[in-house]
Amino acid sequence: MYNNYIRLGVNIDHCATVRQARYRNYERLSGGIVEPDPLFFALLAERAGADGITVHPRADGRHIQRGDVERLCAAIQIPLNMEMGCTREMVAFAVDIKPRTVCLVPETRDEVTTEGGLDIAGQTGRVLDVVEAMHANGTDVSLFIDPEPEQIECAAKMKVRFVELHTGSFANGWHSESTRVHELAKIRAATELAQQYGITVNLGHGINYTNVADLRSIPGIHEMNIGHTIVARALMVGVEEAVKEMRRRMNPGLF
Ligand code: PXP
Repeated sequence: MYNNYIRLGVNIDHCATVRQARYRNYERLSGGIVEPDPLFFALLAERAGADGITVHPRADGRHIQRGDVERLCAAIQIPLNMEMGCTREMVAFAVDIKPRTVCLVPETRDEVTTEGGLDIAGQTGRVLDVVEAMHANGTDVSLFIDPEPEQIECAAKMKVRFVELHTGSFANGWHSESTRVHELAKIRAATELAQQYGITVNLGHGINYTNVADLRSIPGIHEMNIGHTIVARALMVGVEEAVKEMRRRMNPGLF
């Protein structure tokens, strides 16, 4: 559409977090009085120009439910990116619903949100099995990894089309100038290395309306997957305005 345009994938998990806070025991219901409905959120995001919707159905079902993912598949026009742990159950679910991409992430029950990249260098066989199962299913794979050279090298060997570099350390350390500069340089170097291998680079975790200004300066970023800050802002200004404002900040001057 535009040169150098960075795509926005809106992660709607935390819309479901709010719903589950009240309606956890009503998981067979959806929409109607069981609010807020993540599908409604996704449709508003789509109307505001989001380029994709991201969800992470977790083993403990704490936010997005499998039924939500099925309803999304049937209703949205933009691609669905499903984050998932490397488990047999999730592979079977992904084969069933065929999202456009899956993003393999680490998953432990006690973390509040994804806290580190998937250590693909430390568990190559297990991850490769899932990558191959997804490729056989016609689903593109992204690996959510820390911006470390050995993780990139390993991703290249697995022949994935995408990596999503974990921007959490950058985001958490953003208020310290030395940390910010250091972490940004790591993400930039990892991006360049991945691009040399022909891997398309996405970014995600902890990106907000302020720190996005640093990340957008890295050449060739394909997509940013952003959740918490958009859901939080949507409470104040509405979903469409929250999404439009993020797209503008990711791509200043383009529209
Ligand atoms: N990308 C991945 C792989 C994630 O697991 C998450 C959620 O932790 C996000 C992006 C979105 O992060 P945030 O909600 O901090 O924007």
